[in-house]
Amino acid sequence: MHNDVEKILFTEEQIAARVRALGAELSRDYAGKNPLMLCILKGAFVFFADLTRAMDMPVAMDFMQVSSYGAGAVSSGNIRILKDTAVPVAGRDVIIVEDIIDSGNSLYRLKGLLKERGASSVKICAFLDKASRRTAPVAADYVGYVIEDAFVVGYGLDYAEKYRNFPYLGILKREIYEK
Ligand code: IMP
Ligand code: MG
Repeated sequence: MHNDVEKILFTEEQIAARVRALGAELSRDYAGKNPLMLCILKGAFVFFADLTRAMDMPVAMDFMQVSSYGAGAVSSGNIRILKDTAVPVAGRDVIIVEDIIDSGNSLYRLKGLLKERGASSVKICAFLDKASRRTAPVAADYVGYVIEDAFVVGYGLDYAEKYRNFPYLGILKREIYEK
């Protein structure tokens, strides 16, 4: 399986240090609050587990799964809710935790939805940001790494449900997703 990776972008150790720093930043910014950390399944689950444990404060956690219509390596504009939150978001300071922002379409819609539902504030914390690919008017408030436009896997991110368990982040060989 590791042969499918062309290049390691960030090692397990590099990621751990970066995520700890993000957790510390969130702890400072949300001091005295009780934010609702919202994990966007499935890709963010590894990042979410590490990030929340790097936050030295009370946090609540919930999970949502949304999906773009259509499959493949490029995502489309509409989203569907596959799994909704278990607790109401009204009146909460929500921090959306995402694996990667690509076009930004799904996050843009999700952020709008959470505001409609009465969240006091909605911020986005993304492990990765493919900034050059953005088409929707949405920006992450907290970002692990801005990366180039390549298809990456590991640390929760998949291609066809594979590679999520890789502890590092790597660029997938083109021949894997173009065959
Ligand atoms: P967006 O709505 O175009 O921003 O889509 C973001 C979603 O596309 C992420 O949550 C991922 O599930 C998926 N995605 C985008 N780029 C990659 C990638 O390089 N590797 C794995 N998944 C990706
Ligand atoms: Mg995904």
